[in-house]
Amino acid sequence: MINIALPKGRLGEKVYAMFEAAGYDCPSIKENNRKLIFENAEKGLRYFWVKPSDVSIYVERGAADIGVAGKDILLEYEPEIYELLDLGIGKCRMAVAAKKDFRDNGERTLKVATKFANIARQYYARLGRDMDIIKLNGSIELAPILGLSDVIVDIVETGTTLKENDLEVKETVVPISARLIVNKTAFKFKTAQIERIVRDMKEQVKTDD
Ligand code: PRP
Repeated sequence: MINIALPKGRLGEKVYAMFEAAGYDCPSIKENNRKLIFENAEKGLRYFWVKPSDVSIYVERGAADIGVAGKDILLEYEPEIYELLDLGIGKCRMAVAAKKDFRDNGERTLKVATKFANIARQYYARLGRDMDIIKLNGSIELAPILGLSDVIVDIVETGTTLKENDLEVKETVVPISARLIVNKTAFKFKTAQIERIVRDMKEQVKTDD
């Protein structure tokens, strides 16, 4: 049995569609109910819906053999897993944003509000910039508007949230997309099965041209 952790929500549905197209279908998953675990015994597959930011925990600890997580989560939590494939979906970027008139003159400690404290810390450390990281859990865009921070480090997808709050991107930190991740022990003992899944999923990845 291969256990696969899918990120609950819109991204997860796209991910499941890729697994399905690759031949790893599990029809019961499409029944509209509140169940979290679905099995295709014939194919030896078990899927479960996990909060997106928890997928790497399930995979790291072996409760799932395979999972799909955003690169943002992998960079932030640095789980001990193998990242085997960029699925080319869930594309967005991690960016520094601020009020339009904000200019960093480097004179005083930069106040940075973010859900991604580790990513933000590493980014400014590389730049040699003094920072005060303010860890928030959501609605990050409020922070510079209310003067809680100078900038935010957050995910930008369409840019609508920033625009509607009169903020703008100042710098891109890193591009983000969904990655197929694998538990290290599972990869050792189920190598052939997992490599086959990765190969079949790779065929479903759409390349930009
Ligand atoms: C994310 C991110 C931004 C928004 C960006 O928030 O934190 O707020 O999406 O998307 P956009 O560029 O397309 O507007 P999410 O919906 O995950 O909610 P939260 O951060 O408030 O939890």
